Amino acid sequence: MDLPHGVAGEAPEGLEVPPALLRALPGETLHPVWLNQLGGRTFRAGDRFAKWMPAEHAAVIEREVARLRWAGQWLSVPRVLASGSDGGGGAWLVTAALPGESAVSARWKAEPARAAAGIGRGLRRLHDALPVEQCPFEWGVARRLARAGRPPDALGPPPPPDRLVVCHGDPCVPNTLLLPDGSVAGHVDLGSLGVADRWADLAVATWSLEWNYGPGLDDVLLDAYGVEADPVRTQWYRELWAAT
Ligand SMILES: Nc1ncnc2c1ncn2[C@@H]1O[C@H](COP(=O)(O)OP(=O)(O)OP(=O)(O)O)[C@@H](O)[C@H]1O
Ligand SMILES: [Mg+2]
Repeated sequence: MDLPHGVAGEAPEGLEVPPALLRALPGETLHPVWLNQLGGRTFRAGDRFAKWMPAEHAAVIEREVARLRWAGQWLSVPRVLASGSDGGGGAWLVTAALPGESAVSARWKAEPARAAAGIGRGLRRLHDALPVEQCPFEWGVARRLARAGRPPDALGPPPPPDRLVVCHGDPCVPNTLLLPDGSVAGHVDLGSLGVADRWADLAVATWSLEWNYGPGLDDVLLDAYGVEADPVRTQWYRELWAAT
C-alpha cells in the first residue's frame, strides 16, 4: 500500500529490529529496507528478507504466507523460508530474496516510462498465469468493505465485472521487482491476493504510478498490459481503495 499521504517508504537507518527477527536470523546483520504505514518493517539479511508486523496487523502475515505458497506454483514470488509469531502478538516472515530492484528504487524513478511498461506487462502476466478456478482466495468488493467496517452500499453498486482474474491485491509500484532490461523479476506483498475484477488491480496500479513517479503514465501501463482505458471502473475501484 502507498497512499499519497502515507508514510510507507524506505526504512530509516537504525530502524529498530524486532527481537523476533533477531531470534529468527541469529548472527545475521539485518539491514532496514522498508517501513510500512501500519508500523510493519522489512529487513534484508544476505539473500533473505524478513518482514515483521505488529500485533494489530499480525494476521496479514498468515494471509501472506498462504498466498505466497499458492501463487509460487505458477509465478515468481518470494519463497517462504520460515514464519512465526513473536510472543507479543506480532508476526514475522522470512523469504528468499528475488533478483531485481523494486520499481520505486532511484534507478527506476529515473526511467519511469520503462518502469511503468514493465509493471503493466508484469501485471498482465500475473493475471494470465494464476488460475481463477483453482484460487482459494477472494478479494471481492463485499469482503473488502466488510473488513474495513463499511456498509455494503458505501460506494453505490460496483460496475459489472470486466474479467475475473486472480488479482495481486496491492499492485502498487514498490511491490514489483524489475530486472535491468525492464522485465519483471517478481511480485512481492501478496497478503491481499484473490479473485476480483481485473480493474480492482488496474485502477490502483495506474494510480500508484502518479504517487510514485508523477502524472501521465496510465496509458503506458495499460498499453503494456494490453487493455483500453476504462474510466468508469478505474474511478470506482480507486474510490473503493480509498474507502478500504
Ligand atoms: N523476497 C524478497 N525479495 C526481494 N525483495 C523483497 C523481498 N521481500 C521484500 N522485499 C522488498 O521489501 C519491500 C517491502 O516488502 P513488502 O512489500 O512485502 O512489505 P510491506 O510492508 O507489506 O509493503 P507495503 O508498504 O507496500 O504494504 C518490497 O517492496 C521489496 O522491495
Ligand atoms: Mg509492499
